[in-house]
Amino acid sequence: MAQVLSPQQLTEIARQFGTPVYVYHAERIKEQYEKLTTAFKDSNVLFFYACKALTNISVLKYVCEIGANVDCSSINEVKLALHAGFPANRVLYTSNGIAFDEIEEAVSLGITVNIDSLSNLEKFGKRYGHSYPVGLRLRPNIMAGGNLKISTGHEKSKFGIPVNQLEEIKAIVQAHNILVSNLHIHTGSELKDVEVFVKGIEVLFDIIPHFPELKSIDLGGGFKVPYSDTDGATDMNALAKAVKEAFDSHPQAKNLQIWFEPGKYMVSECGYFITEVNVIKETPSVTFAGVNSGFNHLIRPMFYDSYHRIANLSNPDGPVKTYTITGNICETDTFANDRELPVISEGDLLVFYNAGAYGFEMSSNFNSRYKPAEVLVKDGEAKLVRKRDVFEDLLRNQVF
Ligand code: LLP
Repeated sequence: MAQVLSPQQLTEIARQFGTPVYVYHAERIKEQYEKLTTAFKDSNVLFFYACKALTNISVLKYVCEIGANVDCSSINEVKLALHAGFPANRVLYTSNGIAFDEIEEAVSLGITVNIDSLSNLEKFGKRYGHSYPVGLRLRPNIMAGGNLKISTGHEKSKFGIPVNQLEEIKAIVQAHNILVSNLHIHTGSELKDVEVFVKGIEVLFDIIPHFPELKSIDLGGGFKVPYSDTDGATDMNALAKAVKEAFDSHPQAKNLQIWFEPGKYMVSECGYFITEVNVIKETPSVTFAGVNSGFNHLIRPMFYDSYHRIANLSNPDGPVKTYTITGNICETDTFANDRELPVISEGDLLVFYNAGAYGFEMSSNFNSRYKPAEVLVKDGEAKLVRKRDVFEDLLRNQVF
């Protein structure tokens, strides 16, 4: 049974810490991690939490404590992970489009890097030869993902070295005797269909024989979580079965360790974003409920047309009415169109569900508004883990 924070708990937290506020439920993260380890218990699998979804240090510490590893998408995420207590051998850096000095810095910290361009591979070979293991981030040329913006494995995607450039990769690897220990793909986010992973594995199986020193195959992240009641999710047991069957059937793959990099799956559902209604605007065509937030705090609905379930914490059960939920930003920042919700009044608390992944993490100070506070609930206790911005934060780093 999934653990949730009740409307009463969320209301108390909003009263105690103010709004807008992101709330994360630690035990829910553990529950998600355990679903993964249980489903894959018969395979040699490691999970690297894709921390681009949520890098709050207290969350990273908790993820470290429960035994997951961490995948980073910048050198600063690497440093945050180390700061949170991850030992270097549990940190992975899956790069894209970066300058070589970040790779050098990661290597100096003892981190394994997945390299995503031929030019960085060449530089890596010249600098390290066979002395340091490296992963290759490959583009499998598979179209998959919840929407085009989060589809990363197709033929027009910037991510990874296209698999059809295998000969060029091999030439560089041979010329510098590079120690290739990992092959990586990440096809996209919100991959509900198990077949997508199987297709990716098949693409990699053709490549494995060319790299005899491989230790692992990294299948990236992208597990789908349900955002609405009618939305599906990746069937973890079916995925684990399909992956095991595929690896067991391949003579050169069966001894390799399998890696995954789940972001949303780990932290989406643990997160709640609570806002307060500033204005109810009745117009002849639409009733707007305007909250004290906008795409400066939660950009997913505007950027990807993503659906987030919304509830009125202050009036959970009353008769419903149709609302358009907007923010206070000087742009069209619509969170939801034509949403039926129990009657909303000014001052009510509205909560957005599934806000843990890519919520706070994609927030900004647009319109010179403050970034929200973050609260972590663990062992039944709610603690502030990031203060809300104050006016000085808007001036910080400006040179007068
Ligand atoms: N590994 C790599 C190399 C990735 O690029 C990503 C996500 C992940 C793992 C984790 O994917 P996840 O398990 O979270 O689906 N901001 C978008 C999602 C962008 C994902 C980018 N890469 C959203 O809010 O939907």
